[in-house]
Amino acid sequence: MKKFGDNTVLDDLNFDVKKGERVTLIGPSGSGKTTILRLVMTLEHLTGGFIYVDGHPLTHEMRGGKRVERKKKDVARMTTRIGMVFQQFNLFPNMTVMENLTEAPIHVLGRSKAEAQERARELLENVGLGDKVDEHPMRLSGGQQQRVAIARALAMDPEVLLLDEVTSALDPELVGEVLNVLRHVAETTNITMLIVTHEMQFASEVSHRVLMFDGGHIIEDKPPAQMFSEPENERTQAFLKAVL
Ligand SMILES: Nc1ncnc2c1ncn2[C@@H]1O[C@H](COP(=O)(O)OP(=O)(O)OP(=O)(O)O)[C@@H](O)[C@H]1O
Ligand SMILES: [Mg+2]
Repeated sequence: MKKFGDNTVLDDLNFDVKKGERVTLIGPSGSGKTTILRLVMTLEHLTGGFIYVDGHPLTHEMRGGKRVERKKKDVARMTTRIGMVFQQFNLFPNMTVMENLTEAPIHVLGRSKAEAQERARELLENVGLGDKVDEHPMRLSGGQQQRVAIARALAMDPEVLLLDEVTSALDPELVGEVLNVLRHVAETTNITMLIVTHEMQFASEVSHRVLMFDGGHIIEDKPPAQMFSEPENERTQAFLKAVL
């Protein structure tokens, strides 16, 4: 459960994502999609209930018959395995591209600078930005910045990747390059992904399942081919009609 003050945003919500599965969340504005990703990233406090990652409770657990918060250190250890990419890139503006990619691997994972830089170079090559290593984010296009943000998330070798409308802030001509990078990640890794997007073509190509949210509940859960061609729920039908 998640409440903001008296406003209950998520309630009676229960779903599983398998290891390696890619799941797209769709639904009207305000239905709680971002909140779910932020809860998994532990950027929001879970009001009730539990989130499990790899079978382990993330932020809260049952102890002595009571629901209690887990130790900060234990939560932190788990969240290093979870990466998130935001609509607004959120790169560190005072750092170069290389520093953006190596900061957390060095300071959180304890990697050597050389090791972190080698991995960063490889990832930047993969997202087509091998020549931007020493550039500052402000001097990159939105599409380039978002590809850096994806590479930065991958530099932590995440088991789970959360993508919140990562192309929504981009000019239309830059959307394709970012989606291509994500398609490549989907094809070449086994990273579990939770994706919020309005790019339905992309969602149907990369996801195994699509969940339709409304009012903090899942109202439909199907593989993309069925979800997009034969939605059963009336609200799903209306939503897809409006966005497609
Ligand atoms: N920090 C906050 N404080 C108070 N209410 C919030 C906060 N963040 C989100 N909410 C509320 O929670 C509900 C769900 O918001 P959320 O951002 O998760 O929706 P969403 O499905 O991601 O919408 P959109 O498609 O517009 O991004 C909304 O009613 C919103 O007003
Ligand atoms: Mg949102």
